[in-house]
Amino acid sequence: MKPKVLIPAARIRRTVDRLAREISRDYRGKNLALVCVLKGSVVFLADLIRRLEIPCSIDFMAVSSYGKSRKSSGVARLVLDLRESPEGRDILLVEDILDTGRTVRYLLENLETRRPRSIKICALLDKAAGRKVPVRADYTGFRIPDRFVVGYGLDYAERYRQLPYIGALKGGSAAKVLRTARRKSEK
Ligand code: IMP
Ligand code: MG
Repeated sequence: MKPKVLIPAARIRRTVDRLAREISRDYRGKNLALVCVLKGSVVFLADLIRRLEIPCSIDFMAVSSYGKSRKSSGVARLVLDLRESPEGRDILLVEDILDTGRTVRYLLENLETRRPRSIKICALLDKAAGRKVPVRADYTGFRIPDRFVVGYGLDYAERYRQLPYIGALKGGSAAKVLRTARRKSEK
């Protein structure tokens, strides 16, 4: 099944350029550490850092939610932690997509205990309709409707990450696509 193009590669490129300009302006003279949330954000991070005009380091975290369902169950678990200490750094969390907000809320609470100088959020995609906890991005690429999207790092059961564009899967809203996936995985 080929996803329907929602955001073509050229538009992603222009938006990543804009985000890199904003970040380069805001973090000049600071101690920027980009923290990429695996796995979905790697493509975005790789493009973003090549357009930054200021020094930065990169590091990685990964979380998974408990339970079988792919929809955030609300309970996050850290499966990969930072290599470098965030203490005294200006942390920018790089996320592919903000949906319920639970992943980012969990990461913020975790990072705040480790005394960074500042923490902000950069999300390529924002699905505001999905929000369950109050979180907002400081830098947002695109606001998108409640569809299940894939490509440019985002997956559906580990597929489609390599697509150069962001596409929507047929099958309606994100909730509906995930319900169908869950039914299949339980068979
Ligand atoms: P949240 O905790 O609900 O905000 O979920 C954030 C994570 O769920 C993202 O980092 C993605 O990995 C995943 N996710 C949410 N919506 C989508 C989607 O439409 N396509 C692919 N992954 C998604
Ligand atoms: Mg993610």
